Amino acid sequence: MQITIDRFNPESDTKPHSQTYYLDDSKIADGSMLLEVLQQLREQDPSLAFRSSCQEGVCGSDGMNVNGQNCLSCITLAKPLGEKIHIRPLPGFPIIKDLIVDMEIFYQHYRDVKPYLQASTENSHDLSQEFLQSPEERAKLDGSYECIMCACCSSSCPSFWWNPDLFPGPAALLASNRFVIDSRDITTIDRLESHDRADNIFRCRHIQNCTAACPKGLNPSQAIQSLKHAIANK
Ligand code: FES
Repeated sequence: MQITIDRFNPESDTKPHSQTYYLDDSKIADGSMLLEVLQQLREQDPSLAFRSSCQEGVCGSDGMNVNGQNCLSCITLAKPLGEKIHIRPLPGFPIIKDLIVDMEIFYQHYRDVKPYLQASTENSHDLSQEFLQSPEERAKLDGSYECIMCACCSSSCPSFWWNPDLFPGPAALLASNRFVIDSRDITTIDRLESHDRADNIFRCRHIQNCTAACPKGLNPSQAIQSLKHAIANK
C-alpha cells in the first residue's frame, strides 16, 4: 500500500509538502482501520504527527481528509481505500503540524451558541425538581446531541472555508438547533436572533457536504434548514 501524507513542520517548512510511505499489504489485516496504518507508519517515522485518543469513534480527535473525503481514521477501514491513499489535514484550519490542525475557531463558534440548557428559573418552578419532558419532546433531540465535535462537517463546508470567523459552521449550528428545539429551553428567540444575519446562518447554501461528511450519520444540513425555518417564523 502506498500512503501519501501532506506534511508540515512549522520549525523547518514554509509550506506543506507531500511524503510517500509504503507498507507491505501483509501487515494490513482486512479489518484494520486507517488509524492502525498511521500508527505503523509512525513506528517507521516517529516524526509523523496526528491526533488520536479513544480509537473507536467517540472522542472526535482524529478527523482528517482521506482521498478527498473527511473522516475519522479510527473507524475508516484501510483496505477499501485502495492501494494508493492520500491523507491531508482537515481543510479550512491552520495547520499546527502534519495532520494536526488548530481548531480554536471551531470551538469558539461552539461556545458562541451557548451549547447548554437555559431553562426557566421562574419562582413557579421548584428548582429542586427536574425539568420534565414528554417522550415526544425528548425524541425531537435525537440526531442533535450525538455530535462528537470532530469538525469533519465544518471542515468540508466551503462557506466555513471562506468565512471561518463569521459563519458558525454546521457543527455549531447543529448544537444551536439542539437547544432551539428543546422544550425546556427558554432562550429560543435570543438563540434565533443571534443567527439572523446575512453573515451568519444565511451563508449556508445547503450543498450538504456537512451531512455527507459526518462520521456519526447526523444531518447538520437539515438542522440548519430547521433553524432557518424557525427564524422566518419567530
Ligand atoms: Fe477518538 Fe477516532 S480516536 S474518534
